[in-house]
Amino acid sequence: MSQKNPLQGMEETTKTSTLKSMSASAREGKRRASLTLDMSVNVAGIHLKNPILAASGTFGYGIEFEDIVSLDKLGGFVVKGLSREPMAGNPPPRLFETAAGMLNAIGLQNIGARAFIEEKLPALRKIKDIVVIANVYGYCTEDYEQTIRILNEGDGIAAYEINVSCPNVKHGGMTFGQDPALLAEVVAGARAASTRPLIVKLSPNVTDIAQMARAAEDAGADAVSLVNTFLAMAIDPVTRRPRISNVTAGLSGPAIKPIAVRMVYEVARAVQIPVIGIGGISTPEDVVEFLLAGATAVEVGTANFWDPRACERLVNQFECWCLEQHIESVAGLRGGVIIG
Ligand SMILES: Cc1cc2nc3c(=O)[nH]c(=O)nc-3n(C[C@H](O)[C@H](O)[C@H](O)COP(=O)(O)O)c2cc1C
Repeated sequence: MSQKNPLQGMEETTKTSTLKSMSASAREGKRRASLTLDMSVNVAGIHLKNPILAASGTFGYGIEFEDIVSLDKLGGFVVKGLSREPMAGNPPPRLFETAAGMLNAIGLQNIGARAFIEEKLPALRKIKDIVVIANVYGYCTEDYEQTIRILNEGDGIAAYEINVSCPNVKHGGMTFGQDPALLAEVVAGARAASTRPLIVKLSPNVTDIAQMARAAEDAGADAVSLVNTFLAMAIDPVTRRPRISNVTAGLSGPAIKPIAVRMVYEVARAVQIPVIGIGGISTPEDVVEFLLAGATAVEVGTANFWDPRACERLVNQFECWCLEQHIESVAGLRGGVIIG
């Protein structure tokens, strides 16, 4: 990260939080209260030891982080989006840093569902007490169904998270997640194919995200996660060319957090199923904000790019924050925002 990197401000916030949360009072609080703080939550029947998961596309297949992150300390992690066949992704440049955020158009590069089962899952199964969620995408409903059927054969996957921010090639390229009927169709297909809990990851590029969440719930989703990245663009003023070869790209990071919190708040009031909050999380206070807005758990994405240990650090800092605030049950924070 360069000196002028706008994300550096976020790093400072993080350091301040670390110092604050490691204060003597927090340590003493931790010693006294460790028996009474329950960090666990339940999402769609999956028990998570804490509510913090790593987000898809920012944490590889999890196993690559084994040497630097205690994977069993995390609530869980979502692996890179998997398709039926391996995908090469888009040509570079595919990443560009923006003010407090990042643009990406990786193009869903991945090794394919079969290779994930054969090459990654055996190593993941050797690690005790971890929660692995497989992210799935496709370009038609059959793609999702077939990828899920392949993954059903692999032991060690807790749930599927389907990424519906993809163009549906059978419907003129309209994104599944932008049309309630298309969304319902793909969710129903995935539900029928799946032997595991199904989380539907919503696109924020819609007018009414609560409507999409209800469509997913009615079609059989066990939980929804939101948000995926916001459609965005940046142009180099000198070359006059787009910063990303794909021209448009997805915006993530601290810049999107307030919009994501608002969307989580709206969705949590619209559906009965659990909500997983995502978008710009990098501090323990960010985690709490999403829980108060109505999320049961959260996923951390872009923060992993400037600190590969971000998720584990957040688990520790979040625990200290709860102890300092005399919180006894993390599940009890859900939807606790006071309005009026
Ligand atoms: C480089 C990159 C790759 C991503 N790949 C995927 C993906 O394969 N599947 C998916 O559902 N979301 C993907 N995402 C979206 C993230 O999981 C997350 O929803 C988004 O970045 C917002 O969270 P954040 O602000 O904490 O990064 C990707 C994000 C980034 C930055």
